[in-house]
Amino acid sequence: MKLEDEILALYDDAQLYDDQNADVTEDLEFWAEIAQRYSKPPLPIIELGAGTGRVSLSLADLGYPVQGIDLSNDMLNLARKKAADMTPADHGSLEFVLGDVRTYQPETKVPLVLFPYNSLSHLVTNEDLDRCLQNIHSMLEPGGRFVFSVFVPLPHFLVRDPEALFPVGTFRDSFSGKIIDVFESMNYNKWTQVNAITWYFFREGSDEPHVRTLSLRMFYPQDIEYLLKVNGFTLEQRFGDFDFSLPDADSVVQAIIAQRNE
Ligand SMILES: C[S@@+](CC[C@H](N)C(=O)[O-])C[C@H]1O[C@@H](n2cnc3c(N)ncnc32)[C@H](O)[C@@H]1O
Repeated sequence: MKLEDEILALYDDAQLYDDQNADVTEDLEFWAEIAQRYSKPPLPIIELGAGTGRVSLSLADLGYPVQGIDLSNDMLNLARKKAADMTPADHGSLEFVLGDVRTYQPETKVPLVLFPYNSLSHLVTNEDLDRCLQNIHSMLEPGGRFVFSVFVPLPHFLVRDPEALFPVGTFRDSFSGKIIDVFESMNYNKWTQVNAITWYFFREGSDEPHVRTLSLRMFYPQDIEYLLKVNGFTLEQRFGDFDFSLPDADSVVQAIIAQRNE
C-alpha cells in the first residue's frame, strides 16, 4: 500500500486518535524546552505530522508561533477546531497546513523543525526517509535544528508471536462516554526493519472491533546517526527520555537533536 493511503486510512477517525492520546503529556515539557532553546519568534516552529495538535497547541499556548503540517485533513480539522476553542489573545500565531513531510516547504526558512511522537517511523523505506530528511534540510536555515523522537527497538517486543493479541490500553470515547479497550498484534520483519501492526479497538458493549493497520519502521541508534549524516545533519544530542537524561539500558525513547550543517 502507498504510504499516503495507509496514513489516511489509519488516521481517518481523528476523534478516536485524540481520545486515545488525551493523557499523553510526558513529552510536552521537552518540546517546550526545545522551543525555548532554538526557536526565533516571529519565525514559526514547524511541527511535522502535527495530527490533532497535541504538541502544536501546547507550544502555541506558551506563546510560540507554530505551523503544524499533516497529510490528513481529518486530523487537521480537529486540530483547527481545538485551536478555535483557545482564546486568540492567549496564544502565538498558529496555523495547520495540509502537506506531506516529503515535499512541504514553508515560505521562509525556519530555525526549528519538530517531528514528535514516533511519526518519523511512518516513513518505512530508505527512499521516503531520504526525501523527508532532504526536505527538512531545505526547510531549515543553516545551523537550524531538527528535533524528533522515536522508539528504541526492543528485541523482546519485536519477537512477539504474530498470532497473539496483546493489550495496549484503555480510554474513554468522548462522544459516547463508552470505554474502548485496545489490543494489538504485530509481525516484525527483521530484514526491512518494519513492524506491521494491527490495532483492534473493542468498544464497550460490542464484540466487533474497529480494526486499523500500520507499518512502523524501527530505527536502531546507529542508523539514525548515519541517516542524518548522509542527509546533511549532525547528530548533536541524543537523550533516552524526555527529561533530557542520557540513553541507558532501560531507555525506550530516543529523543534526538540534529543540526543542519552550514
Ligand atoms: C503519531 S501521529 C502524531 C500526531 C501529533 N504529532 C501528536 O504528537 O499527537 C502521526 C501523524 O503524522 C502524520 N503523517 C504521517 N505521515 C505523514 C506524511 N508523509 N506527511 C505529513 N504527515 C504525515 C499522520 O497523519 C499523523 O497525524
